[in-house]
Amino acid sequence: NTSSPVTLEKSGYARFRDLAGPIVSQLATFKLDKVVIETHGLSPEEERALLIGLELASYSYAENRDNPKKTRKKLPALLLKTSEALDSREIGAAARLAFSMNVARHLTNIPGGELNPRTYSDAVVDLFEGLPDVDVEVWQGEKLRQENMNLLLAVGGAATEGPRLVRISYRPKSAAAGTRPVAIVGKGITFDSGGLDIKPSSGMRWMKKDMGGSAASVGLAYWAVSSGLALPLDVYLSIAENAIGSASFRPGDVITARSGVTVEIGNTDAEGRLVLADALDVAVNAEEKPQALIDIATLTGAIKVGLGAEIAGLFANDDSLATEIEEAGRRTGDLSWRMPLFQPYKSMLRSTFADTNNCSDGGFGGAITAALFLEMFVKDIPWAHLDIYAWKDGAGGAFAESGGNGQPIQALSRVLSRMADGAMDGHA
Ligand code: BES
Ligand code: ZN
Ligand code: ZN
Repeated sequence: NTSSPVTLEKSGYARFRDLAGPIVSQLATFKLDKVVIETHGLSPEEERALLIGLELASYSYAENRDNPKKTRKKLPALLLKTSEALDSREIGAAARLAFSMNVARHLTNIPGGELNPRTYSDAVVDLFEGLPDVDVEVWQGEKLRQENMNLLLAVGGAATEGPRLVRISYRPKSAAAGTRPVAIVGKGITFDSGGLDIKPSSGMRWMKKDMGGSAASVGLAYWAVSSGLALPLDVYLSIAENAIGSASFRPGDVITARSGVTVEIGNTDAEGRLVLADALDVAVNAEEKPQALIDIATLTGAIKVGLGAEIAGLFANDDSLATEIEEAGRRTGDLSWRMPLFQPYKSMLRSTFADTNNCSDGGFGGAITAALFLEMFVKDIPWAHLDIYAWKDGAGGAFAESGGNGQPIQALSRVLSRMADGAMDGHA
C-alpha cells in the first residue's frame, strides 16, 4: 500500500494509526474502569497500526513529568480483542515501538532547564541499566579533550553543564557472526539559544527540542534492545547546550575538528553540524567500522521551509540506503524526501582562514550546505542524514498532544529490521 512517489501520500497503515487518537481522547472523558475494543474485518497490518496509535495517543507529558520510563496517562484499562492473525508477539512488537517513540517524545518535551547535558546523559544511562547486551559509555571533560572533540567542546563551553558524548553499544548474541554494526548519530543540543549569534525570541521559543535527533536515537536504541533486534548498533549522542556567556565560542574563531579539519565559525547558531562532525568522526573511526551510518538532527530551519514539519530532508551518499529509508517512511507514514548533495554548493563554505566555514554567508540552500558540511566527516561509509523537525505543533492524528513526535523512529526501525533480516542487499 505504498503511494506514488510524486505525491507522497500517507500509507493505509498510517491512516489507521492516526484514527486511534480521537478514540483515546473520547475514552479519557468517560469515567470507566475498563473498555473492551473488539476489531472485526481489519487486516493484521491495520490492527497493528491501531495498537501503535492507541499507545501513542495515551501519552501525556504533564502526567509523567519526572519519569521518562512512565509515559502513559490515566485511562480506563483497555482490553483489545484482535483477530487471531495478530499474535501476541506482534502485539508486543507494536507496544515496544510505540513506547520507544513515547520515550523520545518525552525526552524532547522536557524543558532545557531540566534536561541539560548532565541530566540527559544520566537519564540515558538509567534507561538502559540492567538491560541485556547493551553498554552505555559517557565521555565528558578531560576525556573529550583527550579525544580532541574540540567542536563539541566549543559549542558546549559556555553552559553550566559541559558537553557529553554518549555511546550506546548494543551487541546481540543473535546477530550473524561478522555482522558489522550500524552507527546512528544524534544531535543533542539541550537548548539552542543561538550562542553569541543569538536567535530572535520567536526562533528560540521551541529550542528545547533541538535534542530531538538524539532523542529519536535513544528511542531507536531502546526499541532495538527491548526487541532483541539481531543487528549490532552503536548509537552516539552528541550532547551540549548552546549557551551564551564569557566562555562562548565566537564568530570568527577557528577550531580544529577531531578529524583535523580546521573550521572557521561563520555563525555560532550553526552549532548542530559542529557537534555532529566530531561525533561522526568517532563513529567512522570506531574499532568496528560501521556498515552504515545514519545521523538524525534538527539541523536547519531551511529544511522546514522546503518540506514542512512532517517530511524529513534525506541526504545520502548511497542510493540503496536512501531508497530503504524513503520506502520505510512511506510504509510507516514517517516520511522523508531525498535532497541532493550538490557538490558545487560546497564553494559556499569556503573560508580564508580555515579549511572550511561552518556555514555559508547567504541563506540559499541552507539544508544542502549543512549536509555538505557533515559529508566532510563521513569518508567512504554508506551514510544518510535526516534533517528533521522533531515536533508536532498541534494535537492531531495519533498525537493527542503537541510536542516531541519521535520522528523518524518508525521509518528507521523498519530499515534496521530489514538489515537484521538481510533483506537489504549490500548492507547486511
Ligand atoms: N536548531 C537550529 C535549526 C532549527 C530551527 C531546527 C528551527 C528546527 C526549527 C539550528 O541550530 C540553526 O539554528 N540553524 C541555522 C543555521 C544558520 C545559522 C546557518 C538555521 O537554519 O537558520
Ligand atoms: Zn542553532
Ligand atoms: Zn540547533
